[in-house]
Amino acid sequence: MTALVHTRDDLQPFLTGFANGTRGVVMTMGALHEGHLALLKQARHDCDLVVATIFVNPLQFGPNEDFDRYPRTLDDDLKLCAEAGVDVVYAPSVDEVYPGGQPIVKVTPGPMGEVLEGEFRPGFFTGVLTIVNKLLNLTSPNMAFFGQKDAQQLALVRRMVLDLNMPVEIVGVPTVRDEDGLAKSSRNRYLSPEERVTALALSRALFAAQDSARATEGASAVRAAASAVLDQAVATGGLTVDYLALVDPRDFSEVSPEFSGEAVLAVAARVGATRLIDNLPLTLATPGAR
Ligand code: PAJ
Repeated sequence: MTALVHTRDDLQPFLTGFANGTRGVVMTMGALHEGHLALLKQARHDCDLVVATIFVNPLQFGPNEDFDRYPRTLDDDLKLCAEAGVDVVYAPSVDEVYPGGQPIVKVTPGPMGEVLEGEFRPGFFTGVLTIVNKLLNLTSPNMAFFGQKDAQQLALVRRMVLDLNMPVEIVGVPTVRDEDGLAKSSRNRYLSPEERVTALALSRALFAAQDSARATEGASAVRAAASAVLDQAVATGGLTVDYLALVDPRDFSEVSPEFSGEAVLAVAARVGATRLIDNLPLTLATPGAR
């Protein structure tokens, strides 16, 4: 049985009951899909108590973004949480999460939060880190689970926990995709059937780059392999690329052409009115081995 609570007071008995156990939290904005399910199942496997939070965080949406129309599907979400064996869903109100109204004190992400998603969505990562910090305080877990799908978010959360000495272990979970490669996302439900086909260019670009990396080609060739796929989709129409970036996962800075080791290829594009992001971790071979 999955319990549903809306207040911190009602959540407290669950936390107290597992005070000496491993408490895991999976934070979400709802509209749950198989990507979220993977996080919930990982938490169920690793923890004694699994808390899922559902909260569409106003602070991380820009003025022209989709806060109002973001899908809210609590009944379906609860069924999926029950399927995953979640103990308790915490779905607080905006007033509970922001008791002082618009917060004055926020978490600043620093330079890693200014590039890629941070550049296209000013203030986004301040909103994300502030809510993640709040939800960690409200749910006091030992472990928190985040998707590789949002690689920059995951890296920033890890960095926040390190820099602020937060007593929680952050676990990253690989991206879940549809069979044809499209990364699962709550925003996929905005796509028309035609737009969904166009959207496949993102994952196809990443997989083309992965092939190139596996053939031990260098950073420039790997990036070009992805670029070629995206360029074709742009030429066909319906796709606008915000960025394609091959970055060092430690700080999300662009890698040099000579770079070798673990990198992340990240892409963001708009298909009609829907903005999608995706990424793949890649291993770039040492120059001598090419
Ligand atoms: P949301 O987009 O609902 O995602 C919640 C969690 O699910 C995030 O950790 C995200 O990376 C993960 N996730 C989403 N799609 C996934 C997929 N296809 N495969 C694996 N994991 C996936 O990310 C947020 O919400 C918010 O920013 C939040 C952290 C809840 C703060 O408001």
